[in-house]
Amino acid sequence: MKLKTILVWLIGLDVRAMKGLLQEYLDSVGETRFYECYRANLALPIFKAKLKLTRRCNLQCVKCNYWRRIVRDELTTDEVLSVIDQLSEMGCRTIKFSGGEVLLRKDIFALLKHAKERGIATSITSNGTLIDKTTASKLVRSGLDSITISIDSHEPETHDKIVGVRGSWKRSTAAIKNLKESSKMLKRDLIIALQSVVLKSNYHKLPEIIKLANKLNINKLSLLSFVDHHLKDKGERMNRNDLAYSSVHLLRELYDSAGELGVKIVNYGPLQLYPQHIRIDNNILKTDIYSKIPCFVPWMNVYISSNGDVYACCSSKLPSFRMGNIRTSRLDYLANSMAFRDFRKSSKPPINRRICGLCLNEIKLNKTIYEKFKHLIA
Ligand SMILES: C[S@@+](CC[C@H](N)C(=O)[O-])C[C@H]1O[C@@H](n2cnc3c(N)ncnc32)[C@H](O)[C@@H]1O
Ligand code: SF4
Repeated sequence: MKLKTILVWLIGLDVRAMKGLLQEYLDSVGETRFYECYRANLALPIFKAKLKLTRRCNLQCVKCNYWRRIVRDELTTDEVLSVIDQLSEMGCRTIKFSGGEVLLRKDIFALLKHAKERGIATSITSNGTLIDKTTASKLVRSGLDSITISIDSHEPETHDKIVGVRGSWKRSTAAIKNLKESSKMLKRDLIIALQSVVLKSNYHKLPEIIKLANKLNINKLSLLSFVDHHLKDKGERMNRNDLAYSSVHLLRELYDSAGELGVKIVNYGPLQLYPQHIRIDNNILKTDIYSKIPCFVPWMNVYISSNGDVYACCSSKLPSFRMGNIRTSRLDYLANSMAFRDFRKSSKPPINRRICGLCLNEIKLNKTIYEKFKHLIA
């Protein structure tokens, strides 16, 4: 077993380890390879893969489309195992498994274990409702490093209304307790974070979610913007007044409360929608950043949907940006196809807004890489 594999098994993956993972990855790539791949739009070793395992779900969230369309073309267990092997051969450091609801797949534990045995750090995003004590213990035993549980309100009734199934809040919060207990009992670190989508029906009470996180002993909360272009029902869309109120008044309360209680907020939410409030340390507006620096994601990450379709990232899932399917082509072939190389070319500044949604998800990663290698990028 490689040293990296043994370490990942022994220590789990804490936040520092995650940052260390990127630095270790960049050091192992080295300047020459980085320069050659960047210049020729060729793939670097894969850093992070997002693997959608299913579109099925046991909930019926008003904000989401997955449960509305039944699709029966999921990759089989053997196909996913093969993808994990291919990712491992391509140097992959971390895999995020998501869905739909990943815990509807009975093979999730075997898949996590398979990735872990290849030295790949693993994370999942889940609604948490299927994580009873037994499942929590199986997840921890499978070597899971990090889990994000989606909860949209501190109030059970509001959350249950958003997710369309009564009793969900109770089960999702219980999942966190079960996971905490299992990781303590099995003496394995597990990072647990909360995630909420900022909606018309929950935005005015967002600061209360910080208190819920604190009560559950969670110290990270991600806030997502509501993406509604694919939904018929636009009822949860915030209007200009909601956005102005949330960005001017609520954010201060949110951050004050988070600061007091030691909860870290990762905000892809209201801030993103109000660019005049978005500033980062060197005073570049976040929305402007990609006129100056590249998005390195297409060189080092990959997104695979539940039927095996391959994309560069989760913001580029238009059919025209589909790079191929892993049922018919190997991943290393697709990663250096003309389609992928063209996509990388368009990820150099100034980035074409029609191709990329200019999401803010990977700003930190892009800034870190840019700082390290900017002398190579003319
Ligand atoms: C699609 S879900 C899949 C994982 C799992 N079923 C869950 O709910 O956590 C992944 C994340 O996307 C969020 N989400 C769902 N619909 C969304 C939308 N329209 N806009 C933004 N985020 C959304 C969910 O709340 C969840 O945190
Ligand atoms: S639980 Fe997740 S996948 Fe299921 S409907 Fe809600 S957001 Fe969509």
